[in-house]
Amino acid sequence: MYDNNPTLPGIRKEIDENRQGEAIFFEDIHADGKRKFYIESYGCQMNFSDSEIVASILSEVGFAPTRIMESADLVLVNTCSIREKAEETVRKRLQVFNQLKTKNPGMLIGVLGCMAERLKAKFLEEEKLVDLVVGPDAYRDLPSLVQTADDGEKGINVFLSREETYADISPLRLDSNGVSAFISIMRGCDNMCSFCVVPFTRGRERSRDAFSIISEAQHLFEKGYREVTLLGQNVDSYKWTNPETNSVVNFAQLLKEVAEVNSDLRVRFSTSHPKDITDEVLHTMAAYENICKYIHLPVQSGNSRILDLMNRTYDREWYQNRVEAIYRIMPDCAISSDIIAGFCTETDEEHKDSCSMIEWARYSMSYMFYYSERPGTPAAKKLVDDVPLEIKKERLNEIIAIQNRVSLQHNLADIGKTFKVLIEGDSRKSSEEWKGRNSQNKMIVFPKSGSHKPGDYVYVKVRDANSATLLGDLVTL
Ligand code: 5AD
Ligand code: SF4
Repeated sequence: MYDNNPTLPGIRKEIDENRQGEAIFFEDIHADGKRKFYIESYGCQMNFSDSEIVASILSEVGFAPTRIMESADLVLVNTCSIREKAEETVRKRLQVFNQLKTKNPGMLIGVLGCMAERLKAKFLEEEKLVDLVVGPDAYRDLPSLVQTADDGEKGINVFLSREETYADISPLRLDSNGVSAFISIMRGCDNMCSFCVVPFTRGRERSRDAFSIISEAQHLFEKGYREVTLLGQNVDSYKWTNPETNSVVNFAQLLKEVAEVNSDLRVRFSTSHPKDITDEVLHTMAAYENICKYIHLPVQSGNSRILDLMNRTYDREWYQNRVEAIYRIMPDCAISSDIIAGFCTETDEEHKDSCSMIEWARYSMSYMFYYSERPGTPAAKKLVDDVPLEIKKERLNEIIAIQNRVSLQHNLADIGKTFKVLIEGDSRKSSEEWKGRNSQNKMIVFPKSGSHKPGDYVYVKVRDANSATLLGDLVTL
């Protein structure tokens, strides 16, 4: 739905931060006479998913979405704080919105998400022309905050909740391809990785009512969707207690329930934590054809001393053991990763351990970053950000080059294989070609023939590959 483009290994997220975010595009639905809102989202999939909740809340109170910023009465930006660059991008966008506001003084500007949470009221001091500051757990309050702003005051709510999961809100699917959708299954994070601002911006971990998740998946399937991605900062620690029976649902059980909604509904999930991913999850994946054989298992560093400083609570050996379990239980599973180059005190030798992990684990792709110190995090408080920027960049480039080579090898090994592919839409380059993904989350482009449409499953034999995409031809089995 949002083309997050894993076809560009390693640079996707950095690109996300440099471009103009992702405006929400959808048909102007019955907008006559209604106030209009425009929303741009930055950062992780969870933010995109949250924007759909925001859109739902606003449409309930009579706002209509628009894709044209200039015609909006309310301009919102859903922000990310994970790296400094992400915040810089948002600040630049706010300047653009503010220029617009000088021409249209009635327009309201709102900052949502992690940056709102991190900076709180400081935002209102620093960025004078922001009217609303709303943290990730306060979206239900948006209608009354808009009212406050309409009355000429600043609307701010950055209260973090221990319970909010927006379980009862049916997201307004935005910019949807009608085939794949996100389902948020939990919020927050309790892990306290030392580099990460997320526990501070998204609060404590909480799991959403399993029944509401399953029914959302059912509804999506009935509407024609064929793929859902279960989202959480750490899906493996999903844990929901049924208040009626007191029985506990874990992630493996939830996965099974969602997979059983329909065998034609593909199920994906993100993100897994190496300390928490269980063999039960792996066996559940293996048992259901429609649970995709793809795991995003961020390693962050391949070196045990650095992992300890990062407070990841596993070491290199533990991680390797999990990877071995994945390949043993699902030999055809693809694994991807997140890697941070140049964390505090990392030596050249320790960096080499991250390089070797890419080859060892045979990642199909990775998201790669250099370390960016975030104020208030345990690393910022206790460790010295002592790797010079030049070295961080050098190490990152080395990591990217290795991953590109490994991705290419991974993809070349698929030549001659036939995959079941879910058609997502026209390829980026041509309306004569379809694009879709295989179970391993690889994008495959192939010439159209016959009367297929997005949402159909087809079989495609791979003829060629580069490090980002497979090219193939339709086959009948
Ligand atoms: N600097 C660089 N990368 C970071 N990430 C999280 N915090 C930081 C930081 N301070 C990366 C991690 C995480 C991904 C979403 O972003 O790799 O898995
Ligand atoms: Fe951040 Fe770690 Fe939580 Fe991921 S698991 S969101 S990296 S604290």
